[in-house]
Amino acid sequence: MYGWRVVRVETRIQSVELLILPDLDAISKAAADRFLELAHTFDPFTIALSGGSTPRRLYEALSIPPFRDHIPWHQVHVFWGDERCVPQDDPGSNYRSARETMLDHVPIPESNIHRIQGELGPHAAAEAYTRELRDFFGTRWPAFDLILLGMGSDGHTASIFPGSDTLQETEKPAIGVTAQYQDRPARRVTLTPPVINAARTVIFLVTGIGKAETLHAVLKGPYRPHALPAQIVHPDDGHVLWLVDEDAGCKVGQLT
Ligand code: 6PG
Repeated sequence: MYGWRVVRVETRIQSVELLILPDLDAISKAAADRFLELAHTFDPFTIALSGGSTPRRLYEALSIPPFRDHIPWHQVHVFWGDERCVPQDDPGSNYRSARETMLDHVPIPESNIHRIQGELGPHAAAEAYTRELRDFFGTRWPAFDLILLGMGSDGHTASIFPGSDTLQETEKPAIGVTAQYQDRPARRVTLTPPVINAARTVIFLVTGIGKAETLHAVLKGPYRPHALPAQIVHPDDGHVLWLVDEDAGCKVGQLT
């Protein structure tokens, strides 16, 4: 249906499902299909969105027919995996990106949108987001039905960057960080590894030849999350699906 190659990759930690698809449109369609399936499985359906550019096509797909009209938006609760500490209308805001590509075009109740208040600055925004998570999940540890993630060419995911203390965080669900990556805002808030690894399903969306070496190292190289934070993602009872295009998957695909 997508012209995909299904590859089961045995990493050092777990077995993950890897779909190597022709292009961004194909991985966005595959992700939208999983989103639709999960949205009809869980009520409420809790999702943490990824930032960056890769998921924008997915969000656009979800905001138009057929997906828009088949998703039970009233039971979808949207959070974010990370946010930049900029105003919500700033071009660097992950919230703004999701609003303009999806949330402003679907019938989701405003009360179902749980924004990270990045404008408060890393520490205060992380505190506020922790309260927001506690208000929703109560005393139980936040366990999302779906977390969408991207991966940088340096192996970061969410806003967990190489060498970061976040990798050792075990108590807090969200923390403020500072990190340099390309020309993007450095001050951020991120979900922590224990929250990501409590998810039922994690979907990585990765495209581009510039990430091929890193993807190969993450999935087939030695376990060293300090250098490759995406390796920290191995949900205890959850499922990890990597949706990658032919360019990003060209090295991993060779080995299987
Ligand atoms: C962010 C994201 C970040 C992103 C990767 C990949 O706030 O930027 O959460 O983790 O997913 O940097 O970004 P691209 O999809 O733009 O390559």
